[in-house]
Amino acid sequence: MTKADTARLAPFAYSPRSIGRIEVTPLGLGAMPLSFENKADDVENTRATVAAALDSGITLIDTADIYAPAWNKVGHNERQVADALEAYGAAHPDFDRANIAVATKGGITRAEGEKWGRDSSVGHFRTAVVRSKTNLGVEKIDLYYLHRPDRTRLYSEAIETLAVLKDEGHVKNIGISNASVEEIEIALEVLGEGNLAAVQNEFSPRFNHTSWDELQFCGEHGITFVPWSPLGGTGGGAAEVGGRFPAVAEVARLHSVSPQQVVLAWEMSLGDHVLPIPGASRPASIADSAKAMGFALETGEKDALDRELLPKR
Ligand SMILES: NC(=O)c1ccc[n+]([C@@H]2O[C@H](COP(=O)([O-])OP(=O)(O)OC[C@H]3O[C@@H](n4cnc5c(N)ncnc54)[C@H](OP(=O)(O)O)[C@@H]3O)[C@@H](O)[C@H]2O)c1
Repeated sequence: MTKADTARLAPFAYSPRSIGRIEVTPLGLGAMPLSFENKADDVENTRATVAAALDSGITLIDTADIYAPAWNKVGHNERQVADALEAYGAAHPDFDRANIAVATKGGITRAEGEKWGRDSSVGHFRTAVVRSKTNLGVEKIDLYYLHRPDRTRLYSEAIETLAVLKDEGHVKNIGISNASVEEIEIALEVLGEGNLAAVQNEFSPRFNHTSWDELQFCGEHGITFVPWSPLGGTGGGAAEVGGRFPAVAEVARLHSVSPQQVVLAWEMSLGDHVLPIPGASRPASIADSAKAMGFALETGEKDALDRELLPKR
């Protein structure tokens, strides 16, 4: 998508974010909760939730091969996202699928007995990337992340493998996830400055103790920082964010918006490279979260939120 397209689509309070040379909205949809056991079979709900994101102007969707209700359904979330985009296109003749970026991840394994593991071997990635392309129905994956470090292998070798997949045309951009500053440095050494598109780490009002450093490091190196579980997660953190943080609740009250919008606006205000991906398993929650893109914080409000939500040093 060009700058002109983004400007026409979305008069947002925050600038577009970049994934390599692809421009996307400053906030994306986290699709993971759509594959939770209680939602996984509800195709119409998934389609409606993705449609709500697209109707709100969102142009980035985040998924992963392992987002699935069970070990033998790996790829479920990727297939759901692809299906929902196709259904949206069928219902909206003007919709151009090429304007939507989909990010996915590989490097975590699931096996019988719900055994979870890591595998960043060349063999695993070769199979995983082809499977993800098939699931997503794309020739090239917009953004492909190493999901988590595989401690049995050198980090640099995993990044070299991703670089080969990019050179061979399987993926457009490389990202890493759950990476320390040291691992980000290794990835930069292997790929070269400017070639690591994104780092996706946990970051939210309740989880910022390590990731604040990583967020800042990414800003200094032109890397997009993607907070995962940006509201505090599906385990109750996202729902409670207004109750736990008084400054968030106060700004929400003053503007008559949800506390979740305040948190997302605050995260986007931390830098032009910060791109939160709030999860949703319902259309209403992503429609509400998307409104954060149009919600500008006043200076005093941002200062109060920084004081409350950033780590105390
Ligand atoms: N890289 C990694 O290792 C990693 C790990 C975890 C997650 N992720 C990615 O990050 C995304 C986001 O993380 P997450 O889903 O764990 O946590 P989250 O975004 O912090 O919270 C998601 C929860 O917030 C609720 N919610 C969202 N917007 C809301 C709003 N405006 N008002 C009220 N409630 C709202 C959703 O409710 P409903 O379910 O009712 O819609 C959902 O239960 C995931 O979807 C996934 O794509 C990546």
